[in-house]
Amino acid sequence: MALPNMNPTETTSWKKLQQHFDKVKDVHMKDLFAQDEERANKFTIKWDDFYVDYSKNRITEETLAYLLELANDVKLKEAINSQFSGETINQTEGRSVLHMALRAPQSADFKVDGKNVMPEIFDVKKKIEKFTNDIVNGHRKGYTGKTFTDIVNIGIGGSDLGPAMVVDTLQYYKNHLTTHFVSNVDGDHVNEVIKKLNPETTLFVIVSKTFTTQETLSNANTLKSWFLKSANDEAIAKHFVAVSTNIDNVKAFGIDEDNIFPMWDWVGGRFSLWSAVGLSISLSIGYNNFENLLKGAHKMDEHFKNEDFSNNIPVILALLSIWYNNFFKAESEAVIPYSQYLNQFATYLQQGIMESNGKSIDRDGNPIGYQTGTIIWGEPGTNSQHAFFQLIHQGTKLIPADFIGFTQSLHNNKDHQDKLMSNFLAQTEALLNGKTKEQVLAEGTPDQLVPFKVFDGNKPTNTIFIDKLTPESLGKLIALYEHKIFVQGIIWNIFSYDQFGVELGKQLANKILSEFSNSTTSKHDSSTQNLLNYYKGKS
Ligand code: F6P
Repeated sequence: MALPNMNPTETTSWKKLQQHFDKVKDVHMKDLFAQDEERANKFTIKWDDFYVDYSKNRITEETLAYLLELANDVKLKEAINSQFSGETINQTEGRSVLHMALRAPQSADFKVDGKNVMPEIFDVKKKIEKFTNDIVNGHRKGYTGKTFTDIVNIGIGGSDLGPAMVVDTLQYYKNHLTTHFVSNVDGDHVNEVIKKLNPETTLFVIVSKTFTTQETLSNANTLKSWFLKSANDEAIAKHFVAVSTNIDNVKAFGIDEDNIFPMWDWVGGRFSLWSAVGLSISLSIGYNNFENLLKGAHKMDEHFKNEDFSNNIPVILALLSIWYNNFFKAESEAVIPYSQYLNQFATYLQQGIMESNGKSIDRDGNPIGYQTGTIIWGEPGTNSQHAFFQLIHQGTKLIPADFIGFTQSLHNNKDHQDKLMSNFLAQTEALLNGKTKEQVLAEGTPDQLVPFKVFDGNKPTNTIFIDKLTPESLGKLIALYEHKIFVQGIIWNIFSYDQFGVELGKQLANKILSEFSNSTTSKHDSSTQNLLNYYKGKS
């Protein structure tokens, strides 16, 4: 069954939201808080170890009611059921979208084309577990009999960002293995990594769903050539493994059949860290921790699938984001984790959110007349407070932000944790309340400086407070944003699971590459032609 297909702006709820927006757009949240002592409680969801306070948003109970009506008008519940039951909701590529199956228990029943995929998922999971244990415990050795010390993940996009983010985020749980990530086709990237490696003790994990990606194959070939300077061809079987759907290409690269970890078409690249694409995660933090990451994501899946929309974290966050994007015309959203461990979180989310929902054609194939995909960006607090917060507080743009924090720190340094949390709480308070002229004057500010020191406030934030950063809570957090992407795609009436927009640049790059070594060139615009000639003259 196809996904529901309707222009959201033509629904009754959208029209109600538009009229309502005209009435409430200038209301200050400060006043909403003053009018209702219960506001924070009304707009907070407590679930498991998550405490999500969305009361610091420019909404009233009426706004929320209309947003929830919108979710019903676009048939969100039916769409969720279609996704979870394995229907071909990635219609443009003719695929199901079932990354949730990868984190479900063995007894679950996820079907693709009528076939339960759980048995094959668990076969691959067993293979990941055994391989991880053999490498971590030193049972599996390199070509000179030494145990492995370093892992190199070679991949790009979804085959890099997820594993790289999770390995970095969960570094507290890491074992003795050092994990490196090579992604960019920039040869300086791979060569800087090579400087740190010993071929005798390095395991190479080539991750590419298609096994055709230029960057990944170039880096894999460079690393293989470097490796073969010290080892012979037979050693490849001990040191190179691959994760892919394209078994023929992997074998053609020279990788042993036993060293191939399969994945499936129904797992999108940017949602694939839960599959064997996460092999470097499992190797880094151990299989049990990897399992806990999956367990957390599964809990969020259940919450998303079963919870009433009014108490459903991904649904509420998605609706709020629609409110700002489509009614306030906010241009971007920030994600600010108050944890240095989540340093790469916004970068990771950029692919998930922008590759999925950066679309301008609706599910009927027609151009869209409203805004879709949000621009996502961010950096950890408190660093970001000293970088771009000025613009959020006093700039001209409205930037809704998600603040993510943990009540406990991992190293139990109370002094630092209290300081970190005081900033975490203070920033959303400051963004809400701002500072009035009267307050600025009361501080003894000279008259001429007063306008510069006034903060309007009324800047929306969500606070996602989690007990502790663990593999399980990280799994929940990532899955939360995955489902938010889904909900927004459904409302915007777009296909979230293809990415045709990245193809044109790839095709042209291949054409230009061939022209570097060829005197005949195809026709380019004069700018590109001049730049091409300039490069050829210099290189
Ligand atoms: O950038 C496009 C893209 O197809 C992403 O969606 C994907 O994650 C990435 O390239 C890598 O693809 P592959 O895993 O096939 O090498």
